[in-house]
Amino acid sequence: MDKIVIRGGARLAGEVTISGAKNAALPVIVSSLLAGGWNTYRNIPNLVDIKTTKRLLLGFGAKVEEGETLRIDTGSLTSCEAPYDLVRTMRASILVLGPLVARMGKARVSLPGGCAIGARPVNLHLKALTAMGAHIELNNGYVEATAPRLSGATIYFDIVTVTGTENIMMAATLARGRTVLENAAREPEVTNLAQVLNDMGARISGAGTDVITIDGVEELHPVEAVVIPDRVEAGTFMIAAAMTGGDVVLRQCEPRHLDAVIHTLQEAGVGIIPVEGGLRVVGPPDITSINVKTIPYPGFPTDLQAQMIACMSVARGISVVTETVFENRFMHVYELMRMGADIVIEGPSAIIKGVPKLRGAPVMATDLRASASLVIAGLIAEGTTELSRVYHIDRGYERIEEKLSRLGADIRRVKV
Ligand code: EPZ
Repeated sequence: MDKIVIRGGARLAGEVTISGAKNAALPVIVSSLLAGGWNTYRNIPNLVDIKTTKRLLLGFGAKVEEGETLRIDTGSLTSCEAPYDLVRTMRASILVLGPLVARMGKARVSLPGGCAIGARPVNLHLKALTAMGAHIELNNGYVEATAPRLSGATIYFDIVTVTGTENIMMAATLARGRTVLENAAREPEVTNLAQVLNDMGARISGAGTDVITIDGVEELHPVEAVVIPDRVEAGTFMIAAAMTGGDVVLRQCEPRHLDAVIHTLQEAGVGIIPVEGGLRVVGPPDITSINVKTIPYPGFPTDLQAQMIACMSVARGISVVTETVFENRFMHVYELMRMGADIVIEGPSAIIKGVPKLRGAPVMATDLRASASLVIAGLIAEGTTELSRVYHIDRGYERIEEKLSRLGADIRRVKV
């Protein structure tokens, strides 16, 4: 079990290269299940969740080659079971359900169960597949789905669901007839996946809007695909630069995916200047307190809520951060309070009274983005912060301590 140790006080300065997006790479890699032959993927981040996804695919009988690119051939699948011991480490494993049913006519996938940020049900995924003709049973904690061939249907998602949209979009590519997804997720990761699927021969239109139409085809072919930059990693570094009064250039990020984040940080007094291939972020002497509400894309992302609360904890004035996507995504607040933050939780909102300084402390990561908020809080805290359970952060950030250290932070990983 490693720990990350941070001595606060440094202003971040220099350049950081943003990695490929975890939440785009996961569905794109899983889409290899839809077509036999060698698929080649570029800009895949080196993360624990990617390793887990590769293990899942190997378990189905896929061939995997790693190097400059990630290559996957699912030409001879021998299993359609996603076991509990893998799924429980990565909820996004549910993404294999749609493609397996579409390609093999059956799937046995462990129910992912909840996590620190909420119950995380998959009822909308299952309801949609049932509407497309799949027979679904829940036995011994597994989803058992069969369908000789899925049929197109009009699916209305009661709640905007990112992986729900991705799962059903993938399943629909090989269904008989037309599928229309209404109230679909509009995240850039959904659009990235739709582009890859169309390059495989699928017929998808409307990705990026809340109505996506998929006309099923008989078969797809393998593809060369590139994964988009990680807008959540980019947003995390933007907030870290802002909080430390730093001056940081983010390379290989996509500003178009960060509109809400850019406007929110500008409202807080942060300077954000477009530069070749990315953004330059200049932190002000004082952060202005603002109110933020997380909503599905293109709104302010829930995956940056924890980092924003860390930022507002040292802003001048009182801020209100409201979480509308998940029901229990404030675990980081209690750890930030141990560092001296002045925060009160009222239902879905955190009311934050800015304090002049945070104080370093031993803190514990509870989930991926909570970990990131504690790391960036440690950057500005007086003294030393020790973050335990760093396996959470390794799921979604590629070598975060190396990237921050190169920007001047006093941060290191220690084996314990
Ligand atoms: C994706 O999770 C992301 N993960 C999450 O990022 C992100 O926070 C989330 O979308 C929201 O943007 C990946 O893409 C791998 P949802 P997902 O289905 O798809 C409810 C990170 O830190 N819901 O959009 O699992 C659900 O409980 C992770 O990188 C149902 O009720 O989230 C939640 O309240 C964390 N029934 C809301 O919808 C369902 O069947 C949105 O969830 C599905 C979802």
